[in-house]
Amino acid sequence: MTTAFPKNFLWGGAVAANQVEGAYLKDGKGLTTSDMQPKGLLSLELDARTPGDFNLKDIAIDFYHRYEEDIALFAEMGFSCLRTSIAWARIFPQGDEQQPNEAGLEFYDKVFECMHKHGIKPMITLSHYEMPMGLVHQGGWGNKETINCFERYAKTVFTRYKDKVKLWLTFNEINMALHEPFTGVGLKKGSSQSEIFQAIHHQLVASAKAVKLCHEIVPEGKIGNMLLGGLVYPLTCKPEDVHSAMAETRHSLFFGDVQARGAYPGYMLRYFKDNNITVNISEQDKIDLKHTVDYISFSYYMSGCVTADEEIAKAQANILNMVPNPHLKSSEWGWQIDPLGMRILLNSLWDRYQLPLFIVENGLGAIDKLDEHGQINDTYRINYINDHLVQVEEAIKDGVELWGYTSWGPIDLVSAGTAQMSKRYGFIYVDRDDQGNGTLERKRKQSFYWYQDIIKSNGSNL
Ligand code: BG6
Repeated sequence: MTTAFPKNFLWGGAVAANQVEGAYLKDGKGLTTSDMQPKGLLSLELDARTPGDFNLKDIAIDFYHRYEEDIALFAEMGFSCLRTSIAWARIFPQGDEQQPNEAGLEFYDKVFECMHKHGIKPMITLSHYEMPMGLVHQGGWGNKETINCFERYAKTVFTRYKDKVKLWLTFNEINMALHEPFTGVGLKKGSSQSEIFQAIHHQLVASAKAVKLCHEIVPEGKIGNMLLGGLVYPLTCKPEDVHSAMAETRHSLFFGDVQARGAYPGYMLRYFKDNNITVNISEQDKIDLKHTVDYISFSYYMSGCVTADEEIAKAQANILNMVPNPHLKSSEWGWQIDPLGMRILLNSLWDRYQLPLFIVENGLGAIDKLDEHGQINDTYRINYINDHLVQVEEAIKDGVELWGYTSWGPIDLVSAGTAQMSKRYGFIYVDRDDQGNGTLERKRKQSFYWYQDIIKSNGSNL
């Protein structure tokens, strides 16, 4: 049995606080952007929630009270790594307090200790698609003061957990802010391009400052960024389509360029100029941005195409500006499945940054049905992940330095885009439906045993 996966390769899964924890007001937690989006982040509304509105995430899968059982199940699958996030509003409920909320800090102490007990390394995202509403009311990331609040938060958690957490990430899918400004940077729908890019700039500075703090407080730790790996192909070989695909890739990766290289790339400064976008970048900001990440992490679910043809784009483009690829099949949610794209993306990120990579999200959201014996035979999920991991191994053979793989949602959780339980990613089934009915009981799916075997064989049984 041969495998190209390195001996110390980290295998595991990834979740996010707001999609699993529930307990949305427990122990002093403040309201977050996620609490305000009962229909998911694609609803794109600010304060979309009105009193009495039902939000599945209020309870989610109740990880807040069941983390011990869940982490034990992850350990049973053989996880060496679990990615989750800290809910900023558990630590600083409004975001701008001077002192942290001790009850929030204690909760994560217990979670990280539990992971250690099972030999699982925590990988922690500082901000995964949520920020305290208290800060949103003061202008979100459009307000430069938010950088100071984030710094205080980052310093607090690095200091508190420095012995328990060595792998950190700053902002989840930071490049989604362009498509979803409320979720990404706490800005209202209809904000101007200048407002959005200014807020993004503040977030990039905050990310760099967190990198600096992490290096000072957790010197043996590693801190990375997190990008949505939106892989795009030109719809045709027309040079105009190829150029549009390049421009779209740059639009998405300029975040990574700033975080990994420490300065704005020239093409972005030109874009600002050509589109009358004003971004205030101070001399001090330029110095702060030089604190670059140790590794690049990313999510990958699908690829898409880009066209220069405005008519086609207008009729077919999704929220990521991608039009369908006629050569690929789609998931039940219309996400185009492209395992080879994983190899292409890994190689292109490696070529671009020459920094270690970490796949921190990948998986299939699908409807699971229980058979007559109450079992879930999710061969579609096994096939999806297997096909992607085969390409991961190819990329490793190509010479890509890859630290690990955490599949998205190893346990069913509330989906981010559409706030559904029925869009399931897990190896572990959770008995809860879109209306909130169910016992919350956990059950191993067929994929649970498959993933366990893959981890045990370090990928040689793919
Ligand atoms: C990523 C997010 O975009 O995709 C996760 O980081 C999210 O939070 C995942 O859950 C899958 O998207 P969805 O909408 O199916 O939950």
